[in-house]
Amino acid sequence: MDMFCVEGGHVLHGTVRINGSKNASLPILAAALAIEGEVTLEQVPQLQDVATMRQLLQSIGAVVELLDDGNIRVDARHVRSSVAPYELVRQMRASVCVLGPLLARFGTARVSLPGGCNIGHRPIDLHLRGLAALGADIRLEAGYIVAECSRLRGADLDLCGPHGPTVTGTCNVIIAASLAQGRSIIRSAAKEPEVQDFARFLNAAGARISGAGTSIVEIEGVDQLHDVRHTVIPDRIEAATLAIAAAITYGDVIIRNAPTTHMTCVLNALNLIGIPIDATHDTLHIRASSMQRPARLTAEPYPGLPTDCQAQFMALLSTIAGESQITDTVFPERFMHAAELVRMGADIRIQSNSAVIHGVARLSAASVMASDLRASAALVLAALAAEGHTEIRRVYHLDRGYHAFEQKLNQLGAKIQRTNDGSQNIVPRPHSGPISLSISRQA
Ligand code: EPU
Repeated sequence: MDMFCVEGGHVLHGTVRINGSKNASLPILAAALAIEGEVTLEQVPQLQDVATMRQLLQSIGAVVELLDDGNIRVDARHVRSSVAPYELVRQMRASVCVLGPLLARFGTARVSLPGGCNIGHRPIDLHLRGLAALGADIRLEAGYIVAECSRLRGADLDLCGPHGPTVTGTCNVIIAASLAQGRSIIRSAAKEPEVQDFARFLNAAGARISGAGTSIVEIEGVDQLHDVRHTVIPDRIEAATLAIAAAITYGDVIIRNAPTTHMTCVLNALNLIGIPIDATHDTLHIRASSMQRPARLTAEPYPGLPTDCQAQFMALLSTIAGESQITDTVFPERFMHAAELVRMGADIRIQSNSAVIHGVARLSAASVMASDLRASAALVLAALAAEGHTEIRRVYHLDRGYHAFEQKLNQLGAKIQRTNDGSQNIVPRPHSGPISLSISRQA
């Protein structure tokens, strides 16, 4: 398995460019299964999760090409299967995004339940509730969700869950409703920019979706979706992570191709901490000083502070004198990085869905283990600020969501070396806890 060796203490300066969004690309690639035409996607990032999604589409029968210009072309016209096998789905939860497209196009879908997840319990009951409201019969069979319908029918449905709306669930229901008969209204829809991009993509393919980006999305079903070319939005989480990297090293960094209008809450949080940022529509200029202040932050559904930045902010706040607090209302148990940060000298206590952080003068290098994608990023940021050489194991988590992360940081002046620790990659174990499969049909 690859690991990083990070020499801390180098100030970042220079310019860096953001890639396309992982979380916009994944549901869009999955939705290509429902399109009877050629789908060409620009600015899809070269990530492990994207490779897994490509493999999943190919296993279902789509032709997926990586073009010379870096674009991806998907042709699902000749797909006949509607089965997403466990071997692939267990590698990535976002595989569940094929459920809506397969059901909508073929009237049947057999998708393995995704495996366990290190960021907490992640049920898919809301996806199933939404599809059931559109008329699907859904059952669980040998670890697979089996969804069937003759033709989906438009419905008025609500996707609110105990922790707010669901991002990939909203995408699954939007694509299903797009090919359903009649009109649908999705209430408590996720408002994330990735959902907006998903709707833009589908509308360009002939769907009739309005209101994406608000909590009520209205969809007039159509019979078929056609050829489409779409440019995926830039990755707001990559941009936020690099902005925090600049802040934690007191750096001076320009971030290009940043979706700044999707980052208001992140920029407000950085401002609150005392990190001035000049933002234009696609560029951020961070000029961090050492005059940083503790803060109380809460990760919430969009337009709130993204849970996908919670770990990176925790690393930053660990280095700022005074008491800070971060609460995560989206994934209340997403704190596995805290214990590793503590191994680097951070002072963090977890209380329910919050972390109370007392900033220390300097983090110190240690051997640490990445537990998930954003936790890995947080450990890299902490290591940049730490005294000495930090070893970070299991960086395969990082490769799922950041392309050439260490290269970008090294270009800004960091000293990160990727090596191999000689051990084998371990495929995550399947989920062994209770599965929530309650489905309620709505009017
Ligand atoms: N939830 C339910 N029932 C459901 C679905 C979700 O109770 O059927 C709960 C979840 O347990 C969680 C909350 O609702 O507490 C939000 O989960 P959501 O469904 O929105 O998460 P997701 O769609 O599975 C996406 C991103 C995540 C990101 C979350 C929240 C993709 C591929 N993944 O996941 O990204 O954290 O939204 O914004 O879009 C990451 O990139 O590191 C990552 C984990």
